[in-house]
Amino acid sequence: MSTSSRFPDGFLWGAATSAYQIEGSPLADGAGPNIWHRFSRVRGAIENGDTGDVACDHYRRWAEDVGLMRELGLTAYRFSIAWARVMPEGRGAVNSKGLDFYARLVDRLLEFGIQPAPTLYHWDLPAALDDRGGWTNPDVASWFQDYAHAVFERLADRVPMWATLNEPILISDAGYLKGIHAPGHRSVAEAAAVARHLLLAHGAAVEAFRGIAKRKIGLVVNLEPREPASPAAEDAEAARRADIYFNQQYIHPVFTGRWPEGLSEILGEACRDFTSAERERVSQPLDWIGVNYYSRRVTSRGPDAPLHAQDVPASGVAATDLGWEIYPQGLTDTLVMVTERYGKVPLYVTENGAAFDDPEPSRVGLIEDPRRAAYLRDHLRAAHRAIERGVDLRGYFAWSLLDNFEWQNGYSKRFGLIGVDYATQKRTMKQSGRFYREVIQTQGASL
Ligand code: FCB
Repeated sequence: MSTSSRFPDGFLWGAATSAYQIEGSPLADGAGPNIWHRFSRVRGAIENGDTGDVACDHYRRWAEDVGLMRELGLTAYRFSIAWARVMPEGRGAVNSKGLDFYARLVDRLLEFGIQPAPTLYHWDLPAALDDRGGWTNPDVASWFQDYAHAVFERLADRVPMWATLNEPILISDAGYLKGIHAPGHRSVAEAAAVARHLLLAHGAAVEAFRGIAKRKIGLVVNLEPREPASPAAEDAEAARRADIYFNQQYIHPVFTGRWPEGLSEILGEACRDFTSAERERVSQPLDWIGVNYYSRRVTSRGPDAPLHAQDVPASGVAATDLGWEIYPQGLTDTLVMVTERYGKVPLYVTENGAAFDDPEPSRVGLIEDPRRAAYLRDHLRAAHRAIERGVDLRGYFAWSLLDNFEWQNGYSKRFGLIGVDYATQKRTMKQSGRFYREVIQTQGASL
């Protein structure tokens, strides 16, 4: 057993989920519908016509699920809070029953020594706000601030670590430009306006937080190294544009109060400079940054506006069932890149994992998923190498605790450390979950 892969004391070992992907019971206890509740009813939007109506039934089985986290030995759990449970209309009246659900969850986690790490927004905008333009409406920053305030008032005294938004680029790009996520729009102008409003909403929530809590707050971004498909100048240029658009669009303004150079060539004049008040709001000091990492992308020039860049499908390389290249080195590179670009800020890997088809449980009641276990091992080693290279990495959250509703792919793609039989809701530990438990027990030394 080598001791060189031991992680620092206090390193958080977590798993992550999000509300709409696991909870089910979307309208229970007075909750309002959200945009995924609506979008999943649009014909053809989701594979197999799946919806999050039941998902993992976590809203009712949360206590069992916290028990499973304990069995894994997790020291942290990242989940998201559903805005439309807390404010069914998205603004105005607070539904205390919705908050009660998260308060119970937090209390149980704390009782078991598992640090709660909630995210305020993981893509499930209240439908009532979508009726008012959703993220395209400039008022969304103050709506989000009021929602955040209500959550902080109830929970911030006992929750040490918060995130505002999950992967804002997916909200503007997949939701408002490509139309593959809720609310399913396809507009460059909207995507640019949404980016601005997301950044302002994030900052507004941080302002509300500083007024209430002496805890830590951060932002979660998804980053992936962009490599040009060939030495041709056009491909290098396409990879550069993709890096600006996907990797810098949110994190750069958060650190500097300015859009990254080159973004206006992509998104047009909608990303005009922030006013000085906006700049201050957008670049509120943060305590940490969360990095979601799954893969790298190989990029070539492409026809589609506004980016004129496209991903080259991974072929001839190891890939997951979503076709995402398995590239652990990219996790080290990404964490080092953030540290080089923005300084030695505390980082967490807030998501990392792999979709693979799993076999039925074995006779001893274990799901054998050696490819997922190997993916985890290789990425944990890559995370450790980032620490060796000077990155201030404070924790790692595997995506995901449970198999769940994988957005436009419905239930067809499984990411869990624990398997879910959707017909019976039976949970079954996977080999990858066992593997992770041992890593946690040995503080990484077993890697
Ligand atoms: C990320 C999302 C998460 C999950 C994983 C596979 O982009 O944040 O909800 O779907 O991808």
